[in-house]
Amino acid sequence: MKAMKKLIRYLKPYLWYVILAPLFMCIEVVMDLFQPNIMQKMIDTGIANQDNGYVIKLGLLMLLCAIIGLIGGMGSSIYAAKSAVNFSTDIRRDVFRKIGQFSNQNIDSFGTGKLITITTNDITTLQQAVIMTLRIFVRGPLLFIGSVIIVWFTARELFPVLLVSIPVLIAFIYFFSMKSGKLYAKVQKAMDKVNTKLQETLAGIRVIKAFDRQEYEKENFNKVNRLLSNRLMSAEQLILTLMPIMMFVVNLGVVAGLWLGVIKVNEGTLQVGVILAFINYLNIMMNGLISSSHVLMQIARSFPSAERILLTLETKIDIAEPVQSFRKSELKGEVEFRQVNFSYSKNGNNVLRNISFTAESGKTIGIIGTTGSGKSTLVKLIPRLYDPDSGEILIDGINIKNYPLEHLRASIGFVPQKATLFSGTIEENVRFGKEYATSSELEQAVESAAASEFISRFDDKFAHSLMQGATNLSGGQKQRLSMSRAFIRRPTILVLDDSTSAIDALSESAVQHALRKSYKNTTVFIISSKISSIINADQILVMKDGEIEASGTHAELLEISETYQAIYATQSGKEVDHG
Ligand SMILES: Nc1ncnc2c1ncn2[C@@H]1O[C@H](COP(=O)(O)OP(=O)(O)O)[C@@H](O)[C@H]1O
Ligand SMILES: [Mg+2]
Repeated sequence: MKAMKKLIRYLKPYLWYVILAPLFMCIEVVMDLFQPNIMQKMIDTGIANQDNGYVIKLGLLMLLCAIIGLIGGMGSSIYAAKSAVNFSTDIRRDVFRKIGQFSNQNIDSFGTGKLITITTNDITTLQQAVIMTLRIFVRGPLLFIGSVIIVWFTARELFPVLLVSIPVLIAFIYFFSMKSGKLYAKVQKAMDKVNTKLQETLAGIRVIKAFDRQEYEKENFNKVNRLLSNRLMSAEQLILTLMPIMMFVVNLGVVAGLWLGVIKVNEGTLQVGVILAFINYLNIMMNGLISSSHVLMQIARSFPSAERILLTLETKIDIAEPVQSFRKSELKGEVEFRQVNFSYSKNGNNVLRNISFTAESGKTIGIIGTTGSGKSTLVKLIPRLYDPDSGEILIDGINIKNYPLEHLRASIGFVPQKATLFSGTIEENVRFGKEYATSSELEQAVESAAASEFISRFDDKFAHSLMQGATNLSGGQKQRLSMSRAFIRRPTILVLDDSTSAIDALSESAVQHALRKSYKNTTVFIISSKISSIINADQILVMKDGEIEASGTHAELLEISETYQAIYATQSGKEVDHG
């Protein structure tokens, strides 16, 4: 409820549409309400006196009312749609923008499946609720109230029938609405499950196929899908039973109206047409009540959606911009970790413990260690994808929290462990690192990443299109483009997280050569499980269980670090001389 109130302000820019939609709806309702009244006059005055001219005149009046009503209805639809669609577009824009600012921690806590459901399903549900509120929620009550008023003034003799039947109708609607509200809450939960499962299956479809687990996944999906359909069925069935019950009550009202009406007609105090008009109004009242209750249910259904949208919009971004920012025109790229501790969750165990080291500007730092020892986590702290729990990280002697985020990140070329490319051309993907790079910068970046050879083998070269997830490239090709994207920035600090794992030895040494030659002033972090990738580094950090076990050059580590010796032994094929 509160969430809805806060989101309503998104309708403010479209206030005119929000006012016009119900106004047009009023026109339609008034015209609808006129019809039985005109018909009654037609019968009681026109047909009773066999006055054909009068009948035709009233017939034309009815037609005119219908046309005006139609215009009202159309106007109302158009303006309701305009306000609701603009409303949801604006919310979607803001939600998307907000998710863009999310830190990794924020994204982890929502999960991508839920974020997709929020930006699609939830916003659509809300949009639907707005449209229905602006149209039906005006129409239903107006039809009801209008009919009651007209019956009071034109058929007061029959009013007692309403005094009995209306409370009964309202009681039934109330009872059914309450019940169906609960059922629809369950439907929503089942819908969430289906969406999450669907998202997960689509994302992992290749793995599912590779492991031949389609049947298993199909059964899993069927389970949640059946749950959804069962719950939907119960909810719909409930609504379906409401209709005959309502009809029954209305028909009782019709019988009572006829019975009472005939007595009054015989007494000479009522005309026949009034009875027919009354029956019409009784039906209109019922429809008005039912449609109002439908809208109420739809609104109730949109509350959880509104809450989730607001939760997204009001999430606190935990990687904050500095209060007092420090901007340096040119960074040198000296990186220092001072007693850094980090854990992914507040009460989880520390993934990084007491990390301290200094990477001098322009030097190459190798990081090696077993899987899960915290290598990727360590480098993720440099562009502030996560912030340390304690300790500090400094670039050129200044805490990175004091640099504006975009300034900090613009100075860093980051090649993540998992090469993520986007659908689009190769050129677009590389230029992602620097939009207005010159073509020679482009050429040089792909050359350094040993990518120019495979690109030149495509008929359309740089214009070659990548599919979603770059599934039409090999793992090594993806890695090379991912590196080109970082190289093109000519970053002050370059992070290569295991980015040559799928590349042949020859290409890798070409990359290393290019790094030494063309990126001399860049501070480079190379994470690798292969000693050959880091053997020439100025300093190598050996990670173990979240700690730096030893650091030094290759030669020094061979002397002092047993872990390093062990890795070297398995990779060089010969035992290290401990002598
Ligand atoms: N997003 C995350 N949320 C929670 N735990 C994580 C996350 N990413 C990594 N970890 C955990 O942190 C530890 C270090 O991971 P990582 O830095 O990726 O290791 P490495 O790169 O050395 O293989 C592992 O135990 C891993 O399970
Ligand atoms: Mg890693």
